[in-house]
Amino acid sequence: MTPPSSGCYSRLVVAGTVTQHKLVLLLSRQEIGEVVRRLAAEIDRDYAGRELLLVVILRGAFVFAADLVREMRTPVRVDFVRISSYPTGTVTTGGPRVVTGVRREEVRGRDVLLVEDILDTGLSVDRLLKYLRRMGPASLRVCALLDKPSRRRVDVPLHYRGTTVPDRFLVGYGLDMDQRCRNLSDIYWVQES
Ligand code: IMP
Ligand code: MG
Repeated sequence: MTPPSSGCYSRLVVAGTVTQHKLVLLLSRQEIGEVVRRLAAEIDRDYAGRELLLVVILRGAFVFAADLVREMRTPVRVDFVRISSYPTGTVTTGGPRVVTGVRREEVRGRDVLLVEDILDTGLSVDRLLKYLRRMGPASLRVCALLDKPSRRRVDVPLHYRGTTVPDRFLVGYGLDMDQRCRNLSDIYWVQES
């Protein structure tokens, strides 16, 4: 498949420098769709007869969550959290902070599923699990579309894993590079040239 020519830029300004990038297809929209349907079926099976609160991690997981909820049959509530750990580009700086949270009354006593686009170092999910656990959910699990285990720095549970990916920087399907490329329907790895 040819890399996208519109909607995302192959010339990006990163930290004030214009760099050239080539996008190489990793997962097509069809492959992503299959993964999402399988995850939805696993979740439906485990939560049969219950109602779930999906807590979606902004911004990257918004595309995945939108597709996931539409494949699920389990009744869902949806809320969002935002965490900051990657201010610009691809470099991690400092520990993640909860920037936008959820209300304790929304979480207390509910079955909660934290929805992430990609589990990388695990620091964001680790931070959010601690944050949500303090609010007294009935249960708390994690679902991530992508898992980059080679980069893990903290041990975090991953109950619903979409697929494992190599240690490459990925864009598309919600994943960004400097806030760009989130709108691509497929997932690409970024090759610097
Ligand atoms: P971590 O698990 O705390 O390191 O961070 C996970 C977050 O980093 C994800 O929610 C993404 O927003 C971001 N991230 C990690 N790897 C990538 C990538 O390859 N492309 C785009 N964003 C990424
Ligand atoms: Mg994210």
